[in-house]
Amino acid sequence: MTAELTSLILEAADVTVRFRASGRGRATLALDGVGITVERGRTTGLVGESGAGKSTLGRVVLGLVPIASGSVRIGGADISKLTAARRRELRAHLQAVYQDPLSSLNPSYSVFWSLAEPLRARQVGNRSEIAARVASTLEAVGMEPEAAHRRPAALSGGQLQRICVARAIITLPELVILDEAVSALDLSVQAQILNLLRDLQDERNLSYLFISHDMAVVRHFCHDVTVLYRGQIMESGPTGEVTDAPAHPYTRALMQASPVADPVAQRRRRLAAVAESAQSPTTASDGCIYAPRCPFTAPECHQRRPELREIAPGRFVACDRYPEWTDARTRATIETN
Ligand SMILES: Nc1ncnc2c1ncn2[C@@H]1O[C@H](COP(=O)(O)OP(=O)(O)O)[C@@H](O)[C@H]1O
Ligand SMILES: [Mg+2]
Repeated sequence: MTAELTSLILEAADVTVRFRASGRGRATLALDGVGITVERGRTTGLVGESGAGKSTLGRVVLGLVPIASGSVRIGGADISKLTAARRRELRAHLQAVYQDPLSSLNPSYSVFWSLAEPLRARQVGNRSEIAARVASTLEAVGMEPEAAHRRPAALSGGQLQRICVARAIITLPELVILDEAVSALDLSVQAQILNLLRDLQDERNLSYLFISHDMAVVRHFCHDVTVLYRGQIMESGPTGEVTDAPAHPYTRALMQASPVADPVAQRRRRLAAVAESAQSPTTASDGCIYAPRCPFTAPECHQRRPELREIAPGRFVACDRYPEWTDARTRATIETN
C-alpha cells in the first residue's frame, strides 16, 4: 500500500449512514457523524449496546455499506476516491471475523478448502504454495495439521473460531475487523482466542478494530476505545484512562453493566435497556441523545447536542456536564434519590 508513512491504518471521519426503511417509515440514522482511528499494530475497541451502529461501522470500513457523508481512509487512501481496481487491491488488506463461526464457514467445505479459497480467489500461489500456506496458518492458530481434513461440524466452537481467524489472516491483511468475534464463546475459550489474537498481532503487526458490547473484554484487550451510543460517539481515548475514570455517564453505565455483584441492580439495568431498545430508531434530535437515560442531566442537555471535545491529549467526550457529573458529591445526591 502507498502512504506507509502514516501510523494510522484506519481513519474514519464524520461518517453518517442512513438506512431507508421499507415503506414510508422514517430512515434509520445508524451512524451520525462518527469518527474512529486504528493505529498500525494496535487495537481500537468499538463498544456499545446492541443497535448502537457498531457492525454498521465495521461494514462501512469493509466497503459493504455506503456512507451518506464523511470519509474513510485505509492506510492514508480515501476509499471513496479509488478506482474499482485499487479498491479491490485494498480490500485484500482487510479481513473480518464474526460472532458465529458456523455461519461464516461453508459446512460442506473441509477446513483446507475454507482456508485455500481466499488464496485461490486472489490467485495467490500455485497448488503446493497454497498447501504450504494453509499448513503454516493452521499452525499459527494452534491447530493440528490433521484439522485440514475436517468439516466444520466435527469441530468445537473454539476450534471453529480458530479456523475463522486462520481464514482472516491467511491473505496477510493489515487490518482485521473483529465483530463480536469472541462473544459467543465460553469464558475460558474466549481467553484462549484473545491470547491467540494478541500473539498474532505481535508477530504480524496486525491492527484490529475490536467490536464488542462487553466493556470487561474491551478493557482487557484494547489499546484505545470508542464508545458508541445510538449512532453517536460518547467518549473515546486510551482504554485504561476511559475505563478507570469514565468521562461520560454512558461509559460508566456500560462498565456497571459488565458482571456486577448486585443482581437486583443488574436486573433493573437490563429492564431499562430493554425498554430503551423498544424505542424508535435513532433520528437527529436537538439535545444530547443520551439525556433521556442519563441520571446527571441539566436542562441544557435536552436543548443542545454536546460537541465531542478533547479533555486530555487523545481523550474525547461528548458531555456538557463533564466534569461536574464525575464529582462524588453530585453523584451521591443524584444516586440516593
Ligand atoms: N441493512 C440494514 N437495513 C436497515 N437497518 C439496518 C441495517 N443494518 C443495521 N440497521 C439498523 O442500524 C442500527 C445499527 O445496527 P448495527 O450496526 O447492527 O448495531 P450493533 O452492531 O451495534 O448492534 C440499528 O437500528 C439497525 O436496526
Ligand atoms: Mg453488531
